Amino acid sequence: MVEIIKGLQDVIALETHISYIDGENGILRYRGIDINDLVNLPYDSVSYLLLKGSLPDVTELATFSKKLKDERVINENLIQAIRTCNFNIEAMDALRTVVSHMSHCDPDLNDNSHDANIRKSTKLISRFPTIVASFSRIKNGYEPLMPDTNLSHGANFLYMLNGEKPEKTVTEIMEKDFILIAEHELNASTFSTRITASTLSDLYSAIISGLGTLKGPLHGGARMAVMNMLDEVDSSDDAEQYVMDLIENHQKIMGFGHRVYKTYDPRSNIYKGLAKKLAEEKSDTTLYEIAERIENTVIRELVEKRNKPIYPNADFYSGVIYKYLGLHPKLATSVFAIGRVSGWIAHCLEQYSDNKLIRPRARSV
Ligand code: COA
Repeated sequence: MVEIIKGLQDVIALETHISYIDGENGILRYRGIDINDLVNLPYDSVSYLLLKGSLPDVTELATFSKKLKDERVINENLIQAIRTCNFNIEAMDALRTVVSHMSHCDPDLNDNSHDANIRKSTKLISRFPTIVASFSRIKNGYEPLMPDTNLSHGANFLYMLNGEKPEKTVTEIMEKDFILIAEHELNASTFSTRITASTLSDLYSAIISGLGTLKGPLHGGARMAVMNMLDEVDSSDDAEQYVMDLIENHQKIMGFGHRVYKTYDPRSNIYKGLAKKLAEEKSDTTLYEIAERIENTVIRELVEKRNKPIYPNADFYSGVIYKYLGLHPKLATSVFAIGRVSGWIAHCLEQYSDNKLIRPRARSV
């Protein structure tokens, strides 16, 4: 009898060159480079690193960035597809639908050669922000904006969303958010993209699998849940009681706990510093103080008193940041996807390059 490991917890399913996590010591590296160093680069550099295996030199970065910028525009068919959405849905649901539409008009759709997959990758990475921003603008009664090729990936997204060029700190934080969530080894959505790629289905289908998996509240959907949770707490004094009530009722605190990290998630520490910076710049620290009180209460009650490794994960302080940035909670998971798509693509390329159909067994009972 083979032992069945529920949720495939700690099962090593494949080898990867793309990232490394040490969950006991809170270490994360993409292609051998620590996340604390990567976070200071432009998103385009990190995206290049994930896709191609090493950081670009100045010329390689300029060429790569230009290709991404040139592909940002979405055509009228895609805008029409967005207009037909039910606007009560999350932007994530619209993104999934529009990526599917995008695939219909791509002549490379069923070409799984490396060159065709790189062409598709450029379109996917470039257009995710355009799709999400266009959905948000149409939903709010505005016309979608043309992308601005003078702006970075993060700045252009915020510009297309809000109609004005973002300030320096806000731009930096958006870029850093995309970098911090760009890649995370064999998380559920990345695994699902690799499963789809392993059937030799096309890259768009693999990415759509990832989008569907990321949406769940135990995964990327936690970011929206954190934002909704923060809306329920009025002050840092209320925060403590709010957490105590959740624990008393055996409910999970969203944005806490992780399958792999048994200590602080290194991304969470970076997000916390960025949230503090934003709060101080906006001279409005109430939300940050509420979040810190939630964290302190969880650490005291679950880590210190009950000896459970429930630390803030990447979705907790990023949820705080999204609130300071004025993002609607229903945008949150799609903004996560804008960053993560580079990691998904890197994994699909790795899967295609040395493929074996992923097909485990179930015990019939
Ligand atoms: N709040 C309170 N308790 C939590 C918790 C949380 N956020 N996360 C885990 N726990 C507790 C569980 O209740 C369980 O306790 P028990 O052993 O007494 O029953 C224990 O920790 C193990 O939790 P489990 O859900 O089985 O661990 P997992 O490895 O399957 O799940 C997550 C990992 C991320 C799904 C889980 O921590 C979670 O649901 N977190 C909240 C959602 C979230 O933030 N997701 C984003 C992940 S990056």
